[in-house]
Amino acid sequence: MLAKKIETALNNQITVEAESSQIYLAMACWAEVKGLEGVAQFMYDQSNEEREHMLKLVKFINERGGHAKISALKAPNVTFGSFQEMFQMLHDHEILVSESINNLVHITLEEKDYATHNFLQWYVAEQIEEEAMARTILDKINLIGDDKGGLYLFDRDIQQLTVTSSASTPDE
Ligand code: FEO
Repeated sequence: MLAKKIETALNNQITVEAESSQIYLAMACWAEVKGLEGVAQFMYDQSNEEREHMLKLVKFINERGGHAKISALKAPNVTFGSFQEMFQMLHDHEILVSESINNLVHITLEEKDYATHNFLQWYVAEQIEEEAMARTILDKINLIGDDKGGLYLFDRDIQQLTVTSSASTPDE
């Protein structure tokens, strides 16, 4: 049975993951209308992954005798000044998600909830990968700058960068 404090903290994380999914969906749309199909697909995939992260929490809470609460979400940014700006936002957002997960892990230790602590280790590992991927992409796009040819190649090659991340897609 989940302690109320843990249930509330996990429910807050549901909102964080759901908002992440919406943020990346909005980025996918912007990339798609700007004609960068590779980037758009990458963002659609990221959005789907975040939804999986959310669902994993939903199921865990409900299975442990809690009640997963689905709440209203903040509207994401729908336009961006540049692709660099967009990927900077993705990177910064993943750092925030990691902080949120770390905070959650901290609460489970305070509450001596080792089952939830164990469950969250998957998220800890996932955040290491997501942060690394966001940093790699950000470094590349910053190198390209405003070079149109570079952006064309980046759009074509970004699928390769997703191989690592899709390998970590939750399988339940
Ligand atoms: Fe679910 Fe990208 O953190």
